[in-house]
Amino acid sequence: MNNPDAGPESTAPPSRRARVLAVTSGKGGVGKTVVSANLAAALAQRGERVLVLDADLGLANLDVVLNLYPRTTLHDVFTGKAMLDDAIVPAPGGFSVLLAGSGMVEYSRLTPELRTRLRDTIDALSPRFDVILLDTGAGISDVVLFSVSLADEVLLVVTPEPTSMTDAYATIKVLSTQQRREVIRLVVNQTGRLGEARAIRGQLQRVVDHYVNAAAVQPLKLELVGEIPTDAAVRDAVQRRQLLLEVYPGSTAAKAVNALAARLAP
Ligand SMILES: Nc1ncnc2c1ncn2[C@@H]1O[C@H](COP(=O)(O)OP(=O)(O)OP(=O)(O)O)[C@@H](O)[C@H]1O
Ligand SMILES: [Mg+2]
Repeated sequence: MNNPDAGPESTAPPSRRARVLAVTSGKGGVGKTVVSANLAAALAQRGERVLVLDADLGLANLDVVLNLYPRTTLHDVFTGKAMLDDAIVPAPGGFSVLLAGSGMVEYSRLTPELRTRLRDTIDALSPRFDVILLDTGAGISDVVLFSVSLADEVLLVVTPEPTSMTDAYATIKVLSTQQRREVIRLVVNQTGRLGEARAIRGQLQRVVDHYVNAAAVQPLKLELVGEIPTDAAVRDAVQRRQLLLEVYPGSTAAKAVNALAARLAP
C-alpha cells in the first residue's frame, strides 16, 4: 500500500489514531494498576509509543506505583489551570503518563462536563501515541463505564477468587448489554497454577453464554490474553515503587506481562 518512493512524512497519515485499551475490573485491588504500568513498559520495549491515563479519578494510585508526583495533573487540565502537554510526564519504563492527581473527588460523579473533558482529552492524545491504556476504577459505576466506553478494546482483569469472578461477570454483563461489546479480553491475575486462567475463562464464558448470550443480539466472546501468576516479586516491586519489569525482569510475573504485550501487539 505504501509508496516506497514517498518521503517518511507520507507513510504516517496525520489521521492515525491510538488504540485505546481500557484496563478494568469488577472487583477492586485485583491488579489493574500493576498490569497497566508494566504492560505499558512491555509495549514500550516493543517500540510502541504508549501513554497510561489514570482514569481512576477519585482513587488514583498510578502515581504511587510509579513513584511519580508531578506538579501538573489531569485535575489542573480539567480545571483550566494547565495545558494538556504540561501534564504528560515520562515514566520510568519508557512510556508517558497522565496522572489524575489529588482533589479529583468531585469527578466521582459522571456529569456532562466530565464526559466532555475525558473524551476531549483522549481525542487530543490519540494522534500522538500508538497505544493509550486507561487504568480505570473497579466496578460498574457511571464514571468507570463511561471511561470504558471511550476505549476500542477492553482488558478485564480478574483473579481466581470467587468474589472477583462474580464481580467480573457483573461487568461483562453490563458491557454486553449497555455497550454492545462483542469481545472482552481477559487477563487472569494472581493464578496459583498454570492452566487456571483457561478454566476461569471457560467458567465465565459458560455463565455468559447461558445468561447473557441467550438473549443478546450479538454474542459476547471472552478472549484469554494473559495469565499472570501470584508472584512475590510483584508485591516487592510495588513496595519499592518501581516497575516489576525493571526490578525483576526475569520473574515469572514479568515474563507473563511480556507475553501479554506480545499477544496484544499489532
Ligand atoms: N500477580 C501478582 N502477584 C502478587 N501480588 C500481586 C499481583 N498482582 C497484584 N498484586 C498485589 O495486589 C496489589 C493491588 O494491585 P493494584 O493496585 O494493581 O490493583 P488495582 O486493581 O489497581 O486496585 P484498585 O481497584 O484499588 O485500583 C498490588 O499492590 C500487589 O501487591
Ligand atoms: Mg488501581
